[in-house]
Amino acid sequence: MNKIFAGIVAALVLSTGVAFAADPPATIVIDNKNGKVTFHHKEHQDRLKGDCLKCHATKEGGKIEGFNKEKAHGLCKKCHETEKKGPTKCTECHKKG
Ligand code: HEC
Ligand code: HEC
Ligand code: HEC
Repeated sequence: MNKIFAGIVAALVLSTGVAFAADPPATIVIDNKNGKVTFHHKEHQDRLKGDCLKCHATKEGGKIEGFNKEKAHGLCKKCHETEKKGPTKCTECHKKG
């Protein structure tokens, strides 16, 4: 889907007040023992040009099954390293308190 078409769809959704059943939240705070990680879902969607499959098994997305440290680091940290963009240091993602 091109950007203009995506824009029209978004406008339609807004104007009719109909939302997708599982609209992803703009921000997801991932709580864990090493300090909360704030994940800007919306910004990542935009950065990755709406390619949900970069992180999800389906284009509808949803909860990631068995999301844990290994999966998170394998997904998040790995992409930042490969892209040489985004945080790769512990405290850039994990915030205590
Ligand atoms: C950079 C990675 C990434 C991309 C790209 C991404 N997501 Fe997600 N998404 C996540 C993570 C991480 C979660 C939280 C998973 C969990 O809690 O198990 C999530 C959660 C969700 C949820 C569930 C929210 C909830 O709390 O129930 C939906 C729905 C979703 N994403 C849809 C999408 C759609 C649709 C796209 C593409 C337009 C997309 N995502 C792109 C990483 C991503
Ligand atoms: C790109 C972001 C990111 C970076 C960088 C990162 N982490 Fe994480 N880490 C996460 C996320 C997200 C989770 C949560 C996974 C989950 O839901 O269980 C996590 C989970 C963990 C956990 C598991 C905590 C628990 O509750 O079991 C530990 C320990 C951890 N990270 C340590 C580290 C250390 C040490 C570093 C640096 C070497 C680091 N992380 C770097 C994102 C990151
Ligand atoms: C497929 C690639 C990719 C994946 C997967 C990915 N990111 Fe990112 N992330 C990026 C890019 C690109 C940036 C942008 C960096 C910039 O523009 O400076 C970024 C930036 C960030 C930032 C700093 C800016 C902001 O949005 O707050 C955080 C924090 C972050 N990512 C956390 C995460 C976490 C947590 C996950 C896993 C749940 C994740 N990322 C997964 C590509 C990715």
